[in-house]
Amino acid sequence: MDKSSINEDVDPVYPIAERMLGDHKANVEDIVKYEEMWESSINTPDIFFGDLARELLSWTKPFERVQQGSFHEGDIAWFLEGELNACYNCVDRYALETPDKIAIIHEGDEPENVRKITYGELLQEVCRLSNVLKSMDVHKGDKVIIYMPMIPEAVVAMLACARIGAVHSVVFAGFSSDSLRDRIEDCGAHVVLTSDEGRRGGKNIATKLIVDEAIKGTTTTTSTVRHVLVYRRTGSDVPWTENRDLWWHDEMAKARPYCPLTTMSSEDPLFLLYTSGSTGTPKGIVHTTAGYLIGAASTVKYVFDYQPGDIHACMADIGWITGHTYIVYGPLALGATTVLFESTPTYPDPSRFWKMVEKHKVTQFYTAPTAIRALRRLGDKWLEGIDLSSLRVIGSVGEPINPEAWEWYNAQIGKGECAVVDTYWQTETGSIIISPLPGVTPTKPGSATLPFFGIKPVILDPQTGAELEGNDVTGVLAISQPWPSMARTVYNNHHRYLETYLNPYKGFYFTGDGASRDKDGYIWIRGRVDDVINVSGHRLSTSEIESALIHHESVAEAAVVGGHDDLTGQCIHAFTTLKPNVEISEGLEKELSLQVRKVIGPFATPKRIYVVSDLPKTRSGKIMRRILRKIVNKEHDDLGDISTLADPS
Ligand code: WT7
Repeated sequence: MDKSSINEDVDPVYPIAERMLGDHKANVEDIVKYEEMWESSINTPDIFFGDLARELLSWTKPFERVQQGSFHEGDIAWFLEGELNACYNCVDRYALETPDKIAIIHEGDEPENVRKITYGELLQEVCRLSNVLKSMDVHKGDKVIIYMPMIPEAVVAMLACARIGAVHSVVFAGFSSDSLRDRIEDCGAHVVLTSDEGRRGGKNIATKLIVDEAIKGTTTTTSTVRHVLVYRRTGSDVPWTENRDLWWHDEMAKARPYCPLTTMSSEDPLFLLYTSGSTGTPKGIVHTTAGYLIGAASTVKYVFDYQPGDIHACMADIGWITGHTYIVYGPLALGATTVLFESTPTYPDPSRFWKMVEKHKVTQFYTAPTAIRALRRLGDKWLEGIDLSSLRVIGSVGEPINPEAWEWYNAQIGKGECAVVDTYWQTETGSIIISPLPGVTPTKPGSATLPFFGIKPVILDPQTGAELEGNDVTGVLAISQPWPSMARTVYNNHHRYLETYLNPYKGFYFTGDGASRDKDGYIWIRGRVDDVINVSGHRLSTSEIESALIHHESVAEAAVVGGHDDLTGQCIHAFTTLKPNVEISEGLEKELSLQVRKVIGPFATPKRIYVVSDLPKTRSGKIMRRILRKIVNKEHDDLGDISTLADPS
């Protein structure tokens, strides 16, 4: 990110959001109360989280021990001996109490297509699908892949898995068939849930076709998919494999609308979600039932200041952790009404978000800095005449938000009266870990401010690993004690979990981000310090893009680095050299770009591809990406130490 635009010397200037002081009482009264609660969450976590877990969740068997394990051993567990079911907590208990309350507002791709689903209806749909899954021989612990557009059935699918103890792995429907195949193979799923097509921004997306391609490519020894259940979304003709493919509506019609709950232990996995790391293939991050739900529910309660009657709108896709936690599990665990948005911020025009806020009287609105920057750039005329007064909390997530975008969001969307929450977290943390609390934490534009309950952030010296105490320090961000919603392992690869998160700095969880703590103790996230790049809030691994490029027949070597981009935060610059005797042909760059789209997905398309005669390497042959990074970011004068280059020219 552009560090020059950060001014940490500012005093906290946006004290308390006005709308939090009116009729809507904040869940935490003031900053003193926050400090007290935070201290107790850190010093006596067993009492703090024990109470919270009893308050927010319903248990079929109470837990006996609040937590066990350490970062040294990598054996974290919470709420031991406890039993509960996530679906019961998100659906049944509200369906029993308030069956007519709206659980999901689906804002379809076309603004006039709105579907509202009550808790009572949601329970029936979930039960039917649970029975369908059982009829397809899905059992507790089995993996189920969900490759679906943003429709209520995708949420039903997640909850149906949770109900019967199956472990869902939602794959973002923008991933290519190759990426989908990798994930199916890694988790060994027998069942894939999809739709005939998706609809986004007026265009059709060939989800079923991509699933077919993915399965076709699975090698016979690992091909495990027995059934593909297909929801009819657009009604277009799709290829069909008899016996394997089943229509959603046919199977649902046969299924009984009640399905008993499978009892789960606190530490039974709830879902896997694949995410990119700095090396190798994507990792299946494992989240478990109770700890994850506590993180999800408690952050909706405190960070979004959830009050009964609120309409919670998170604009993420359910294929990412943000969608899991802040569209599905967090809001539903509190019995809230959650908005599911199928379209894009600019379809049919850039007033889409704001008209939606007005139409549904949204109280909490959550999106990514990229969207905020893009809409700001398109001009304020798209806001004219739209009533945004229902909003109380507006959130940002996914990448650092630059102060200019923060100011615009605060002034134009929040009208200076809402709480702006810049929320920092990761797929691995399960829920928000650093963020202001509405009506409580004085904010500074560009800073995620202070830790959530149970989170003890530390800044470490990247070289020595020594903790940098006090304020006004910069280093890498780590967390010094376990919290309930943290990932427990990498699926089938606990070694990789330890190596990535717990072994780099012994006794700490390492985030992979650089950060500063300013003079007031506020945290400023600096971005990734590993080979992960963040494009529009999408996390990508440079090595994955490199390996996609190397699979092209003409490419000898590839090096991918992140460049700065005003709109998307970072963008992908790819450098390639060609195999001997291969000439640069017209259209080669286009071909290479298509190659990346094919292997990963359209969102990973490089902004620039350079075909070069040589890459900067050390004498031992290692590509010096640091130098390429400086070149793309136009820091030519400051290439650093290049004395180890094999050919400095
Ligand atoms: C990475 C995690 C879980 C949120 C969606 C992305 C970056 C996330 C912020 C923020 C600065 C942020 C970090 C982090 N990030 N939120 N508020 N300010 N950076 O989840 O795909 O797991 O990516 O996103 O670099 O490590 P993810």
